[in-house]
Amino acid sequence: MQAHSDEMRCLGKKIVFVPTMGFLHEGHLSLMREGLRHGDYLVVSIFVNPTQFAQGEDLDSYPRSLERDLELVEKEGAGAAFTPRENELYPEDFQTYVSLESLPRHLCGISRPTFFRGVTTVVSKLFNIVKPHIAVFGEKDYQQLIIIRRMVRDMNFDIGIVGAPTIREPDGLAMSSRNAYLTKAQRPAALSLYKSLLKAKTIVQSRIIKAARVIDEAKIIITAHAETDIDYINVCDPRTLDDMPIIDRPALMALAVRVGKTRLIDNVLLVP
Ligand code: PAJ
Repeated sequence: MQAHSDEMRCLGKKIVFVPTMGFLHEGHLSLMREGLRHGDYLVVSIFVNPTQFAQGEDLDSYPRSLERDLELVEKEGAGAAFTPRENELYPEDFQTYVSLESLPRHLCGISRPTFFRGVTTVVSKLFNIVKPHIAVFGEKDYQQLIIIRRMVRDMNFDIGIVGAPTIREPDGLAMSSRNAYLTKAQRPAALSLYKSLLKAKTIVQSRIIKAARVIDEAKIIITAHAETDIDYINVCDPRTLDDMPIIDRPALMALAVRVGKTRLIDNVLLVP
């Protein structure tokens, strides 16, 4: 892959990179399309990264569909798909990790304390292997996006990071590979995440209010469904992720909720 990327760079190609864990959906494809607006040689990686799964999480059951994924990647006009095996990225004596100080101590990092270390480590490795000029990440995983931006600045990766908006199902549910775990009966509960975010957006429109108010409303909407278990609902500064008790400027409302065994996340920007 490194030799191939060198070759493409020598040919004057601008390499855009979309890292994924596969089981591709429209959200992933939208990142590829966005990528091709910023460069002319698209590389997509498909790798279910073990270091971002903690013991007891869904590494073994994570949905996989490599053949279908490769067809989709080709159809989107990618020049290459990078699909390494686990022991190629993590040989037995692997011992180097990349981790940030404070951004991972918020939101998802509280209940998944080793998650972002796994993400930043694998993304660093993929950056060094694929050697892109530009990489695209989804706002669906907002904390991941800003952690990658921070890492790129802090470590002087010579790569531009592009953020792309969340793609949703027609009913509003944010697309996710993990939606495949949901039963039909769990669907209304899953949808309550977005409903609570929309409700917050409406409440906040054109007035300044306390974050606790929209968080309480969200709790009511979500807990109305059996099978939901709230991990967090948070209103925070979109740059630092520090809590914002009063919504007097644009704030990120982010939440993580378990529906049955499936952990779902979503977020919106609240603009008073
Ligand atoms: P994965 O969950 O497969 O997501 C790959 C990329 O697709 C991420 O940038 C994610 O934010 C984006 N994405 C997922 N659902 C989306 C949606 N509904 N709309 C828009 N974009 C969406 O995120 C990862 O994999 C991994 O952590 C990875 C970065 C590949 C490192 O292992």
